Amino acid sequence: MKYRALETTENDKLFENSIVEKDISSLPEHDTLIKVKFSSLNYKDALSASGNKGVTRNYPHTPGIDAAGIIVETTGNKFKSGDEVIVTGYDMGMNTCGGFGEYIKVPQEWIVKKPENLSLSESMAFGTAGLTAGLCLRKLLLHGLKPEDGEVFVSGVTGGVGIISLMLFNKLGFEVTAITGKLNQEGLLKDLGAKKIIDRNELDLDLISPLQKPIYSGGIDAVGGKILSNLVCMTSQRAAIACCGMVGGLSLDTSIFPFILRGLSLFGIDSAESLIDTKKEVWQNFASSWKLEMIDDNIKNISLDELPTEIDKILKGEQIGRVRIAYD
Ligand SMILES: NC(=O)c1ccc[n+]([C@@H]2O[C@H](COP(=O)([O-])OP(=O)(O)OC[C@H]3O[C@@H](n4cnc5c(N)ncnc54)[C@H](OP(=O)(O)O)[C@@H]3O)[C@@H](O)[C@H]2O)c1
Repeated sequence: MKYRALETTENDKLFENSIVEKDISSLPEHDTLIKVKFSSLNYKDALSASGNKGVTRNYPHTPGIDAAGIIVETTGNKFKSGDEVIVTGYDMGMNTCGGFGEYIKVPQEWIVKKPENLSLSESMAFGTAGLTAGLCLRKLLLHGLKPEDGEVFVSGVTGGVGIISLMLFNKLGFEVTAITGKLNQEGLLKDLGAKKIIDRNELDLDLISPLQKPIYSGGIDAVGGKILSNLVCMTSQRAAIACCGMVGGLSLDTSIFPFILRGLSLFGIDSAESLIDTKKEVWQNFASSWKLEMIDDNIKNISLDELPTEIDKILKGEQIGRVRIAYD
């Protein structure tokens, strides 16, 4: 049986993306075949689709680190055909064919049953970016962060992780400062609950001072680099930051003072390898107490054929919010 997929090919160190027809028999030898209904575009997909060997070693390859769909057949014992399911992370889309194809074949251990009260399409409005935002929030709440502790920040706020972090913080009653490079998105950010908006250029500087005015009780950082280095020093007593991204730089050149004088906790989040039960917990929250009624409002819906253009945009940091791929 044939199916359509985006395929990234390598030719003389140049990487190209095109939509091709593949045969189901080319999928890997895993136990569960899924008809993908929706996938979403994440920064890591763009890295895979542009030849980042830290993400994907061998080409040709079909990226797509998340997918929501219906089980066609399984030889495992955890699910049955017809089940509506969500798959995110582990090796999918890295070195295992991913959700940028109409079918995937994965081990049952990577699969979460879609919770009731969350549609397949809503689940990919969240996608991996949303799951990551949820994992960051979960970590901060487990630390004990509460709205009454004071202001929190979200960096990279117009991106996928950032926009859902803002919506989740707002849903739970936190006062959020949005840090962005896109000041022209002020209206959108305020609509989604941002109380203050800061130009990221004000923070994208060599360490301003090792101990700065204590403004934030916590935050979610999707950019890393100099911005996170400065935010670390702007935290109040017993604050906590969850960091997950590196679009602003790989290194952290900060100060030890906020850790030893203010008891700051800095948590790292890796959504791909999170335990499946932790992922289930976050998906369940998205369907209940963290339900975002407006999740679909700011989604760009595209077809497989439109993906190459959207991949270029996310690589340039030009995406606003989430991009969801819908299949027939
Ligand atoms: N650890 C994990 O499990 C995990 C999971 C998912 C994603 N991530 C990482 O999280 C990051 C964000 O992912 P995403 O899917 O949200 O990407 P995205 O949609 O491209 O969003 C990134 C946002 O960061 C800001 N930005 C872009 N270039 C920047 C720069 N040079 N310096 C500072 N900020 C910049 C932009 O927002 P503004 O214009 O509003 O500033 C951009 O929209 C990526 O590094 C991704 O790899 C990690």
